[in-house]
Amino acid sequence: MIPAYRCPHCGQGLVEHERDFQCAAGHRFDRAREGYVNLLPGGRLKGRPAGDDESMVRARRTVFDAGLYHPIIDAVAAAVAAVQPACILDAGCGEGSYLARATEVTGANGWGIDISKSAVRLAARRHPAHHYAVASSYALPFADGTFAALINVFSPRDFSEMTRVLEPGGIAVVVTPGPHHLAQLKAIIYDDPRQHTDRADVRTGLDEPNPERVESVGFTLQLDDPVLRLSLLEMTPFWWSTVPERRETIAATPLTVDVDVRLSVYRRAATA
Ligand SMILES: C[S@@+](CC[C@H](N)C(=O)[O-])C[C@H]1O[C@@H](n2cnc3c(N)ncnc32)[C@H](O)[C@@H]1O
Ligand SMILES: [Zn+2]
Repeated sequence: MIPAYRCPHCGQGLVEHERDFQCAAGHRFDRAREGYVNLLPGGRLKGRPAGDDESMVRARRTVFDAGLYHPIIDAVAAAVAAVQPACILDAGCGEGSYLARATEVTGANGWGIDISKSAVRLAARRHPAHHYAVASSYALPFADGTFAALINVFSPRDFSEMTRVLEPGGIAVVVTPGPHHLAQLKAIIYDDPRQHTDRADVRTGLDEPNPERVESVGFTLQLDDPVLRLSLLEMTPFWWSTVPERRETIAATPLTVDVDVRLSVYRRAATA
């Protein structure tokens, strides 16, 4: 199925025009200068954080552009390539590096949503051929059965929504932190690092599927550049709980840090 956005107000398909998207009921969403569209009703979900801020998004890009997470980015692209998708959705896409690699490897069309406008703006600016929208992973703005492959990396997810937008036989590639992920960084930040987790918010419900396959991706980074150490810290949720003295320690001291993530592949059952 060719992907098209659904209206967040009435659920009807949105027709794309040069400057905006419109549904048959007359709801209209302007296309931003960078090409993305904001599909969050009211521009933002009330009572919910609006995702990563500009500085976190830029920190993430600095880390990716330095190649530090390439093994994970490549593993996601390889997993997605297995189904030779025509279209890939990255739900919680951030600044777009995972989707960019996955589309490069597969030749698929790229679709990305994130609740953070800063993230979507940065992604759309670098990847104008991809389709980006500000939207929530808890209410994906697409019809049922739209995508052959979906990516969800360190981001909130709702398995029933993910399953809904996947084609029968389609896969979701989900990346979550493993037990040793950034352990040495956590050891500097927390007196008792075990008490802290960077697990993304997950709406599991009763319909959480079993993964078809789980793979570990692990490697060690030697971070001699203070900019990269601070960027790595800033792109994690523990940035917020790092007191200034410990940030200074991280800025001043070269760091060897383990990256340890789990890549899980979920498949929507093919219809008989
Ligand atoms: C840790 S970042 C990961 C971003 C990207 N997947 C990556 O790995 O570079 C988490 C992302 O989830 C986004 N986010 C938070 N809540 C969300 C929601 N309800 N729907 C979609 N994205 C959300 C944040 O704005 C942020 O970009
Ligand atoms: Zn509408």
